[in-house]
Amino acid sequence: GASQQASGQAEQGKEASSGGEKKVLKVGTDAAYPPFEKQGPDSKPVGFDMDIIKAIAEVNGWELQIEHAGWDPLFEDIDKGKRDIGISAITINDERKQKYDFSDPYFDAFQLIMVPESANVTKIEDIKDMRVAVQSGTTGADLAEKVLGKGNPKLKGFDDTPSAVEELYAKRVDAVVADNAVLNDFLKTSGKEGYKVVKDPNVVPEQYGIMVKKGNKELLDEINKGLKTIKENGKYDEIYKQYFGE
Ligand code: ARG
Repeated sequence: GASQQASGQAEQGKEASSGGEKKVLKVGTDAAYPPFEKQGPDSKPVGFDMDIIKAIAEVNGWELQIEHAGWDPLFEDIDKGKRDIGISAITINDERKQKYDFSDPYFDAFQLIMVPESANVTKIEDIKDMRVAVQSGTTGADLAEKVLGKGNPKLKGFDDTPSAVEELYAKRVDAVVADNAVLNDFLKTSGKEGYKVVKDPNVVPEQYGIMVKKGNKELLDEINKGLKTIKENGKYDEIYKQYFGE
């Protein structure tokens, strides 16, 4: 990628490398959300999101340090400037937009309800009296809370989504609400039989964005430029196909 002219002292956030100076950016994720992010070998996060941000970094000539942060800590870290970029299947919504800035959308998503195959569930209201597990602080948690009511003891929040799904497999809850691609991945790869996912067509669709500290316009512009480039040059499609097929 393009390298900047070295002139005396290296600026903060830049570091000398073979091709000149590269901007080094700290990327955080909650690496427990396959296929978007999971812990790879050496516990380095891998997945769709990591491939997307790496492709954007290539366009901009950045060097990335990608780390697992956890879901709640990720938001704090971005807010405090401890990490530069959050990419973690993060839905862009009004509440988050007050505190953070988001890139152009890079992925369309919607909520699904995962239940045992025999469950009589066709719409979100059908889980109203059920025991429900969610990942705390997610849009799935918001949706379930709307239906069950805030503070309902039947609604169990977990720090990560796999723990919520485990709760369903263990029959300690009757349903899980989470993003479509992730629950579909559990259905496909967990080897557990007897579960299905249900889509309520009336639940509003979502879009994922890449998150930066509020006001970091320079970085956001570069992210959007990179995203646009990889959408135009076929790189985005290549990555998409690798994870989701045609
Ligand atoms: N899209 C949902 C949200 O933004 C869930 C994202 C959870 N991501 C994760 N890596 N655990 O609330």
